[in-house]
Parts: sequence; C-alpha cells; structure tokens
Amino acid sequence: MALPLDPLGELMSEVKLQIRKDGPILVTGPCEMFDADGNVLTPLREGAVALCRCGASATKPFCDGFHRRVEFSDSPREAAAESGS
Ligand code: FES
Repeated sequence: MALPLDPLGELMSEVKLQIRKDGPILVTGPCEMFDADGNVLTPLREGAVALCRCGASATKPFCDGFHRRVEFSDSPREAAAESGS
C-alpha cells in the first residue's frame, strides 16, 4: 500500500498521536524524538510511545503511569472543581 501524498507531492507521515483520556499522548509510527538540546530520545519500549501530559512522570518526557496516582484529569471543568476555583 502506497503512502498518501500531501499537496506538494511529499509522503505524508505515518505518525499518529492519540490523546488518552486522563492520560498520556500515545505516539505510533516511525518518528524520531529529540530533547531540548537536540539529543535523540530513546523510548523505554519498542512500539507506541507514551508521552507524559500530567507532569508527574519520573521518566519525562515519557509516561510512567504516575498519572493514575495523581488522578490526572484532562477536563478543565473537573480540574477546576477539584481545586475549588
Ligand atoms: S501522563 Fe502518565 S505519568 Fe504523566
């Protein structure tokens, strides 16, 4: 199966980002990741990469599952109600 082309005739990426409810961003497909200094980031596991969205991971930028312990919510309303603002 040929990859689709963008309007300029270049191959479109196979990379997909999926935002998980109250959890990380899952990245699937071939891609390279770099830190702020340009160093290559190596995922902890092969396959899908989970990027932390909650800020509580000890392995940032990767998710280590800690979002469950901190009960991370991606709903602005729920987060505001919990903080009392
Ligand atoms: S999103 Fe999983 S540890 Fe932050």
